[in-house]
Amino acid sequence: MPEPTISWDEGSGTLRFIDQTLLPGRYEVITCGSVERLVSAIRRLEVRGAPALGVAGGMGVALAAQGSRAATRDALLREVEEAAAELAGARPTAVNLSWGVNRVLARVREAPDPAEARRAAVREAILMAEEDLATCMRIGDHGAVLIPDGATVLTHCNAGALACTGWGTALGVVRSAARDGKRVKVIACETRPLFQGARLTAWELSRDGIGVTVIPDAAAASLMRRGNLDLVIVGADRITRDAVFNKIGTYMHAVCARHHGIPFYVAAPRSTFDPGASEDGVTIEERERSEVSWCGGRMLVPDGVRVRNPAFDATPLGLVSAIVTEEGVLRPPYRLGDLPPG
Ligand code: MRU
Repeated sequence: MPEPTISWDEGSGTLRFIDQTLLPGRYEVITCGSVERLVSAIRRLEVRGAPALGVAGGMGVALAAQGSRAATRDALLREVEEAAAELAGARPTAVNLSWGVNRVLARVREAPDPAEARRAAVREAILMAEEDLATCMRIGDHGAVLIPDGATVLTHCNAGALACTGWGTALGVVRSAARDGKRVKVIACETRPLFQGARLTAWELSRDGIGVTVIPDAAAASLMRRGNLDLVIVGADRITRDAVFNKIGTYMHAVCARHHGIPFYVAAPRSTFDPGASEDGVTIEERERSEVSWCGGRMLVPDGVRVRNPAFDATPLGLVSAIVTEEGVLRPPYRLGDLPPG
């Protein structure tokens, strides 16, 4: 197993993560010892992908607890709650981020004194990372049955090892199928504007010896029409009772897949489910103009021209053929409101 995307270093009490903005040209592991640095890493997408954001959020709370000099339980709690709010607000769409923050914050709240709060926060953050890897492996194993031998699979963005502690959700399904001896080929959509598909999905799959071809996002529909794709599988940032939120462009693939009679699958841990919410209650992150108007140091859009840069879209559940979780494969009609908490 390669180095985890994000991990806690017990010796130094810091967290380590692979800087995903540098891949595939440079592989660099960053040591991060402050909440401020971590919030910036989350905003800049050095750490990204819903499950990895959950672990980052939890580890951020552990950093805050550990770094606090507070002598009383109440003073510590005040400091940690302030840091938790900053972490949870760093990106609004992936529900895993606030899920991870709240999970570790709960351990801090129930601790009887500051010393125990610090220990409990670090313990819980490490446990979250371990659980995340095990969860992805279970998602992969449940989902592998959906991949026929010899399949060509389209994916969007990066829902792989880099988006989690390891293995991946959508790419975890592909990895499990390949591990089971199935021949699988992946078509990775480049995923404009930040190219998570071209840079990250292609990097990690090629490193694992899984056949991957990068296409412009706009080529997907035509490949489906020509019969070159067997299925689509993507990850998710939040699954409400009526929609799947994922990287911008996902909805377009779901519509095209339905039109061409191709299954459209979503793979996500239960920590991505938000069944109490519906599509209209979710904030879609709008990112900076420069991500669209500049590329590789070149201006693409003339000054003064307006740009929209929504980072995610919502795909209605009616377009989703199945949702793979660590507990098994859900099929329509989805009754997500009936699920116990993840
Ligand atoms: O903006 P990003 O790169 O964080 O977006 C990530 C995605 O959209 C992923 O598909 C999603 O988080 C699932 S990751 C297993």
